[in-house]
Amino acid sequence: MKKIYFSTLLSAILVAALVMTACSKSGSGDSGADSAAKRKVIIDTDAGSDDAAALMLAATSEKLDILGVTVLYGNVPLDAAAKNALMVLEVCGSDAPAYIGADKPLTKYREEMISVHGEDGMGDQDLIHPKGSAEDKAAVDFMLETIKANPGEVEIIALGPLTNIAQAIQKDAETMKLVKHIWVMGTAGFGPGNASPVAEFNVYSDAESYDIVLKAELPMTIVGLDCMLEETRLSQADMDAMAKGTDCGKFMNKAFTKLFAFYQSLGQNMGVPDALAVAAVIWPEYVLETKKCYGVACIGDDAAYGQIILYQEGAVYEAMPEIGNYNLDVVTGIDTKLYKKNFMKIMTGK
Ligand code: BDR
Ligand code: CA
Repeated sequence: MKKIYFSTLLSAILVAALVMTACSKSGSGDSGADSAAKRKVIIDTDAGSDDAAALMLAATSEKLDILGVTVLYGNVPLDAAAKNALMVLEVCGSDAPAYIGADKPLTKYREEMISVHGEDGMGDQDLIHPKGSAEDKAAVDFMLETIKANPGEVEIIALGPLTNIAQAIQKDAETMKLVKHIWVMGTAGFGPGNASPVAEFNVYSDAESYDIVLKAELPMTIVGLDCMLEETRLSQADMDAMAKGTDCGKFMNKAFTKLFAFYQSLGQNMGVPDALAVAAVIWPEYVLETKKCYGVACIGDDAAYGQIILYQEGAVYEAMPEIGNYNLDVVTGIDTKLYKKNFMKIMTGK
């Protein structure tokens, strides 16, 4: 009798704990996956506010086992990026460890870049008080050791400049060849840039790193800025719904304060580019079309800096460079409705 009472009590506590989980996994839009089948991922992030939302999609997905989060400079300086990543993991109830990576690009820091995420990267709402701290191991070492220990199994989701990944290639290119796949939010895709008319922020931050990563010809999917279609963006009504939603939604409603104001000043709804890349990993049916491409990074110190030229397989140009493998899958079609529905479910619980 006592045993039954104890196990009933235990179940009740467990159920209550699950219900109270910061941002429930049942709200992830996943059909579910048992733990043995979970995909092993490393998330590489510069931890601005859209990275935070992207991290939440990943952390609430039952399909992913986040082996670690590697942070680097980008939207904010490295220290702030590390704190932001830790804070976001806490809000999600994730125990994934965080590792400190690059504090600057490989060659040249781009002073002219503005931060659209606020000084602290999370909307300057005094949200950032993480209890945890980053691991002692350096991000590049963690990346290499993890990939070596799980050959052909680890996927990297890159949400910032590619400096950490380029440094890992520089340190041990053979081990990096064992990576299963790299998913990248970066490049302008086939549309205009946001750092310059031709360059997207993550590439413009460190185009030399993109050059190294592209030349390594690792299996890679690119979600470019042109995927940030109107139907994926967040309106005032979406922000209001998030404010009354899950812990993730409430946190993101505040963290998006500066980014939302930035887009409003342009007369636009808010784009959340990094979440569009995580969506491609966790909701495969959201990717409707990809094009096989070969990418070349523009690294000359001129107006084209940070542009990625995408040569499509099958296309013939009168001035073709020497093309290696068409190893990039560039996403050119997405299910915006599915994305928005799943995103808002995580943020509002509905
Ligand atoms: C990218 O730049 C950053 O502001 C975002 O976090 C995203 O990774 C979009 O160009
Ligand atoms: Ca980012």
